[in-house]
Amino acid sequence: MNNKEYLTFALTKGRLANKTLELLNKIGISCEEMLDKETRKLIFTNEELKLKFFLSKGPDVPTYVEYGVADIGVVGKDTIMEEGRRAYEVLDLGFGKCRMCVCGPESARALLEHHEMIRVASKYPVIAKDYFNNQKYQTVDIIKLNGSVELGPIVGLSDVIVDIVETGSTLKENGLVVLEEICPLSARMIVNQVSMKMQQERITDLIMKLKSQLD
Ligand code: PRP
Repeated sequence: MNNKEYLTFALTKGRLANKTLELLNKIGISCEEMLDKETRKLIFTNEELKLKFFLSKGPDVPTYVEYGVADIGVVGKDTIMEEGRRAYEVLDLGFGKCRMCVCGPESARALLEHHEMIRVASKYPVIAKDYFNNQKYQTVDIIKLNGSVELGPIVGLSDVIVDIVETGSTLKENGLVVLEEICPLSARMIVNQVSMKMQQERITDLIMKLKSQLD
């Protein structure tokens, strides 16, 4: 499945895909078909360069790459950590920079310091669990939410949240603060483990070219 004519990319639909295409453009890789903003197509081909691109939801990118239907994926580090799929993480693309943090009202700081049994709301239950269990050794109750996580402490569902902070404005506008930083995040390129062997030359060349644009 991996030793084939086309090199296939799974991109995270939205801003990350746009940024990725901008970067690929700089090394002479483009895909005319994808420039049409009105299109509802999900798969795009560049016949000349023998490349295929498809757009998917972030959490599905590592899945496509693990199963080898995409050779390469571009996805946020947060999603890579949360999904825990098998793939080589080969490049930090430097965009989509933000931080994974524990946030909440200032009053929750003491609960963290004293390792209280607290409720943590998050779109990232795996990351939250790993952080509290294995780094803080604090027993917590994790509640999975699917978005607008900042609501958690405001409406009293949770004491804190584990979420992405980019500009910090969502927190500020909702009276919350960063209490602890878990890790920095950015967009990463991941590669299927078999593709890395079967298409080594092509993929290594791509990585080197992209690296030269990032340095
Ligand atoms: C993300 C994240 C925060 C916000 C942080 O949410 O979950 O809510 O962005 O950005 P800021 O620090 O620049 O304010 P997203 O916009 O993806 O929507 P969601 O809450 O529905 O997940």
